[in-house]
Amino acid sequence: MAGQTTKCVLVCGGAGYIGSHTCTALAERGHRIVIADNFANSSPRVLLRLQRIVGAPVECERLDLRSKSAVTRLFKRHRFDAVIHFAALKAVGESFERPLAYFDNNISGTINLLGSMHDAGVMRLVFSSSATVYGDPESVPINEQARLGVTNPYGRTKLVMEQLIEDLCHADGCFRAANLRYFNPVGAHPSGLIGEDPAGIPNNVMPYICQVAAGRRGKLSIFGDDYPTPDGTGVRDYIHVMDLARAHVVALDYLVRGDGNLTVNLGTGRGISVLELVHAFERASGCSIPYEIVARRRGDVAEVYADPSLARRLLGWRTRLDLHAMCRDAWRWQSMNPDGYQRPTAKTKSSPLASRKTMT
Ligand code: NAD
Ligand code: UFG
Repeated sequence: MAGQTTKCVLVCGGAGYIGSHTCTALAERGHRIVIADNFANSSPRVLLRLQRIVGAPVECERLDLRSKSAVTRLFKRHRFDAVIHFAALKAVGESFERPLAYFDNNISGTINLLGSMHDAGVMRLVFSSSATVYGDPESVPINEQARLGVTNPYGRTKLVMEQLIEDLCHADGCFRAANLRYFNPVGAHPSGLIGEDPAGIPNNVMPYICQVAAGRRGKLSIFGDDYPTPDGTGVRDYIHVMDLARAHVVALDYLVRGDGNLTVNLGTGRGISVLELVHAFERASGCSIPYEIVARRRGDVAEVYADPSLARRLLGWRTRLDLHAMCRDAWRWQSMNPDGYQRPTAKTKSSPLASRKTMT
């Protein structure tokens, strides 16, 4: 972009779902990117897809942030201007079973990263936080002043990471961080070349719906219809991943300008129930989504949606893509890639899913 400086940005966890989409937005803005990822929850095939989208090879270092020596070497090989830190384990259910693994991966990795940034004089950090730090909110919409509290070990790691970063900002006045609290990212890049590809059974509702539409799963289980919400199903603030990606670019600009530190919610401000989401997906895809109502899921809360006005005020950012676009783009990705990154991209028309569209 004319008149705006371009930077060399280290994208930790850049091969993952949100990271890969953010890489496209960073490249579009003219930034040079270097991904660092251990591919614990992503595929190296993402890199070729990214290359097709951005029109140039994408630099990637395969490394685990838990290895202090590997992170030190990374910062010796490159001169970064800023870091975006997506790398974390994020499955709520798994975090109850393996809390030590979550603390080790998420917190040890972050400590190594922050240490190397400090040693190398890299003073700008954009951090992936989550609405999970609000736990079971007292009221909605949630603003950044809301009481913090977590309902699961994953959430606790996010809160500890936020606090670590905040302490570092206090200790070193030159260090600047943008703490971005995402609500529920869904959707995919409009090309259909990259998208969300969870390993195993999806934990989150949108990839589950996509796999039902694709014929990989029989029906969606809706976790409870007895919440105090308009139709009884859980309400969330779904945000298009490309809107989220753009927010990272503007947050980075904010830090580079030296406007200070930042903690903001990233959501649309609109609560959508599970049933509303299912029906919107059916309209956007032409597929019917069989479902059954089952018991509530442990740790789930009734209603979570953002007050995103602070992000608008400080960053001039607001969402542009609506629920229809989220469903349409999620479905484009799923139908072009029925098995995620496991197989080459299919054309939507010749995909085995085409018949399902008419079937439903
Ligand atoms: P993801 O699992 O798709 O991406 C995370 C990436 O980090 C993966 O590529 C993984 O291989 C990598 N990684 C994990 N641990 C690593 C380590 N120790 N060293 C190097 N690489 C490592 O997840 P995502 O959905 O893209 O989420 C990105 C970030 O956003 C995470 O920090 C997550 O907690 C946060 N977040 C996600 C959501 C969501 O619903 N997807 C919501 C709120 C916050
Ligand atoms: N749901 C179902 N069936 C499913 C999956 C989910 O009915 O198969 C329901 C849930 O009960 C909830 C809604 O769909 O009401 C959304 O659930 P998700 O699992 O998609 O998302 P969550 O809001 O539970 O959590 C997600 C991430 C967290 C993150 C949080 C931020 O998984 O890591 O958003 O708000 F912290």
